[in-house]
Amino acid sequence: MPLMNTKAMFDKAYDGGYAIGAFNVNNMEIVQGITEAAGELKAPVILQVSKGARAYANSKYLIHMVKAAVENFPELPIALHLDHGDSFELCKNCIDDGFTSVMIDASSKPYEENVELTKKVVEYAHKYDVTVEAELGTLAGIEDEVQVEHGKEAYTRPEEVEDFVKKTGCDSLAIAIGTSHGAYKFTPAQCTRDPKTGVLVPPPLRFDVLEECIKRLPGFPIVLHGSSSVPQEFVKMVNDYGGKMPDAVGIPEEQLRKAAKLAVCKINIDSDIRLALTGTIRKYFHDHPEHFDPRQYLKPARQAVKEIVAHKIKNVLGADGHADETIKVYNEKYKK
Ligand code: G3H
Ligand code: 13P
Ligand code: ZN
Repeated sequence: MPLMNTKAMFDKAYDGGYAIGAFNVNNMEIVQGITEAAGELKAPVILQVSKGARAYANSKYLIHMVKAAVENFPELPIALHLDHGDSFELCKNCIDDGFTSVMIDASSKPYEENVELTKKVVEYAHKYDVTVEAELGTLAGIEDEVQVEHGKEAYTRPEEVEDFVKKTGCDSLAIAIGTSHGAYKFTPAQCTRDPKTGVLVPPPLRFDVLEECIKRLPGFPIVLHGSSSVPQEFVKMVNDYGGKMPDAVGIPEEQLRKAAKLAVCKINIDSDIRLALTGTIRKYFHDHPEHFDPRQYLKPARQAVKEIVAHKIKNVLGADGHADETIKVYNEKYKK
């Protein structure tokens, strides 16, 4: 199975009431942990590479690691996606390098500029059968160099989505309904606090905005960024073993499950992987201060990535067991 774009994945996810996990990859252990989970669960999966990941690892290494995963799991539908592409040149570069999907994120620009840039990327990408994700609305949090302060985020305006999709020809649309990037998705002032545990309880996602978008774009795949749940057991693990992550808080998983049953076909998760890796490594160092071979601590870290991704696939996204049907649709409808 070669790398595929996201069309067959989203067709089946939309109809089946589940979402494809889009997990950020930055190194070999992350690629392995994610694909081992997806392979065992027969779940289509999107491996996404940010500008920061390209700068850290060198895009070539990441591409070849993803290709190795494709060889290792020949029956698994895998897409290689550019996360938060911020220019035509970056998107073109990735398309020329063999990415099967790109995001052009011009959501911080004025509406007409967002339309123009997205359209330009779509025109280029579609020549190479590459799918394009665009964004309307602004999430709080950190995306590479762009940092949006809490309070400066803007929900997607449903009255814009139809015009935007029609004018740009994009294949999926990321919308802002209250998710946010990073491990601190809400300030304590935005949350209430569970009186028993002291853990922050975030404000609910704006399902009314999502429903409005769905009404205006029937059948069209919606994407949610900033969808880590920031599991408190990993926050505790980090904090118990020398870390300092006070008041880290994410999106409750049941809300993401609800979104996945609607038109949300792609859910982006990065921070939870980082937390699982870091918590596991911190504990390992505490428990084995004499160890210094990276394989010793990266092995359980990779296993932690696998376990958290497996949990997401089964209990949040509902994507397990959908690999074969995706390949069928790909072969019948989209294979070139
Ligand atoms: O949305 C952002 C992703 O979590 C990627 O983060 O830009 O630090 O690689 P990064
Ligand atoms: P999180 O920070 O919630 O994991 O979001 C990741 C993301 O949206 C990548 O594009
Ligand atoms: Zn994102």
